[in-house]
Amino acid sequence: MGATSNPTQSNPGPGRDKNRVVIFDTTLRDGEQSPGASMNLEEKIKIAQLLEEMGVDVIEAGFPIASNGDFEAVREIAKVVKNASVCGLARAARGDIDRCWEAVQHAKRPRIHSFLSTSPLHMKYKLQMEPVQVHQAVIDSVSHARNLCADVEWSAEDGSRTEHDFLCRVVESAIKAGARTVNIPDTVGYAVPEEYAALIRMLFNRVPNIDKAVVSVHCHNDLGLAVANSLAAVAAGARQIECTVNGLGERAGNAAMEEIVMALRTRQDTMPYTTGIKSELITRASRLVSAVTGFVVQPNKAIVGANAFAHESGIHQDGMLKHAGTYEIMTPESVGLGKSTLVMGKHSGRHAFKMKLKELGFELGDNALNDAFRRFKEVADRKKDVFDEDIVALVDDQIQQSDERIKFVALQVIAGSKGPQSAEIELDFDGVSKTAKTEGNGPVDATFNAVRAIVPNAARLLLYQVHAVTEGTDAQAEVTVRLEEGGKTVVGQGADPDTLVASARAYIHALNKLLTKRAKTAPAALTA
Ligand code: KIV
Ligand code: ZN
Repeated sequence: MGATSNPTQSNPGPGRDKNRVVIFDTTLRDGEQSPGASMNLEEKIKIAQLLEEMGVDVIEAGFPIASNGDFEAVREIAKVVKNASVCGLARAARGDIDRCWEAVQHAKRPRIHSFLSTSPLHMKYKLQMEPVQVHQAVIDSVSHARNLCADVEWSAEDGSRTEHDFLCRVVESAIKAGARTVNIPDTVGYAVPEEYAALIRMLFNRVPNIDKAVVSVHCHNDLGLAVANSLAAVAAGARQIECTVNGLGERAGNAAMEEIVMALRTRQDTMPYTTGIKSELITRASRLVSAVTGFVVQPNKAIVGANAFAHESGIHQDGMLKHAGTYEIMTPESVGLGKSTLVMGKHSGRHAFKMKLKELGFELGDNALNDAFRRFKEVADRKKDVFDEDIVALVDDQIQQSDERIKFVALQVIAGSKGPQSAEIELDFDGVSKTAKTEGNGPVDATFNAVRAIVPNAARLLLYQVHAVTEGTDAQAEVTVRLEEGGKTVVGQGADPDTLVASARAYIHALNKLLTKRAKTAPAALTA
């Protein structure tokens, strides 16, 4: 893909820099559509705040008509985000668009994102509409959205499989009706880079008012080409990329934001395009999204995988010692991956701990700081070396478990080959101390049975996963649990040097979320 392949075709972008690419993050919308990746309000707000800090231009916060939970999340994110545009998704229907506006209108920069399928297959079977009806619906929906909101994006769902003449006509009409951004999704991840770039170039060549809008791309990763397709489209003139942290998203996911940002940053020689993203926050965002969703990042994943900057072979290590450039095309620091530093030990004071938290991006109130400091001391007493990762794990755990109805107090487990394995747990449930002792098929089962004896539930355990925060047998364990009850899934995490305590904390965290979900009844989510 040549940087000069389309020198004359450019779109308006932030600051009118013709090479500036708008980063539109849809982790909270398309990302959340990954089965099992549901997030609660607090988690969505935390992610949105980090996306804003990273310099994301547009945050797609959800699909307001889909459920009351989605609506509330978009509305609350619209209220807290200060610089980025906050966008909500809406189908081409007045009710969807009105509900979307109700949620995003609180934002400093609100955006309505309306979409409708344009491919022959989708029009015939999914919409059961004639092309002429689809065309009119595009005009009506964009006009309606524009009467409410100055910033309207319109997406031609399944755009990459849409017949060219028809695509040109609807894109022209959407722009005429007021769309400032027109998005051409590769909804099913079918496109290949040259073909997709040619499609974008075709629009620039044939749509007379194309210069009045930003052309956007939204690529799914079914063939593993989402990032390549997005970059090819930028070289062809697109100036907005829709993407997600860790490539989360429907089916095989969306284009991964970290890969797009680092490809553009690293290969300025062939792709002279810029983004506003502070790449140093990429690792933090990746870890946050992974922790919240329970979706582990594969070790060899580009940019954010645990091995992305690891050099195992002797030849590589030798080369690295002589010159880092021999095997490293980006520095770990450029994605915010510092060396695992020994931070503090059991003699470290409260002030030093507070400073360290600030450096790691946490600002805690007095009570939360006291609790976190107490947990830190407990860890430091049991673990020789305390690393940044340990502190992040325990503070994340701490933040998650404050304000919850069920609180972990103590656990005693009998494990080993002789059996029976049993667990005695003490919980604080709505302010009342409760204990239970049960047996189980192994120590984790016994622990979960003991929790269930105090908090009866029929939730199905979909996932139980243990991850060591750092190296060594004294490393903290970070446990993720995914539960399902009545079609609702929740993810819980817990961290502790004792794997069984971490397991109990994770299970309790998930149960607390289920209690909250039970309290809020929401209509079934829609999909886009
Ligand atoms: O993949 C897709 O086409 C979408 C649209 C709603 C933008 O997610
Ligand atoms: Zn999508």
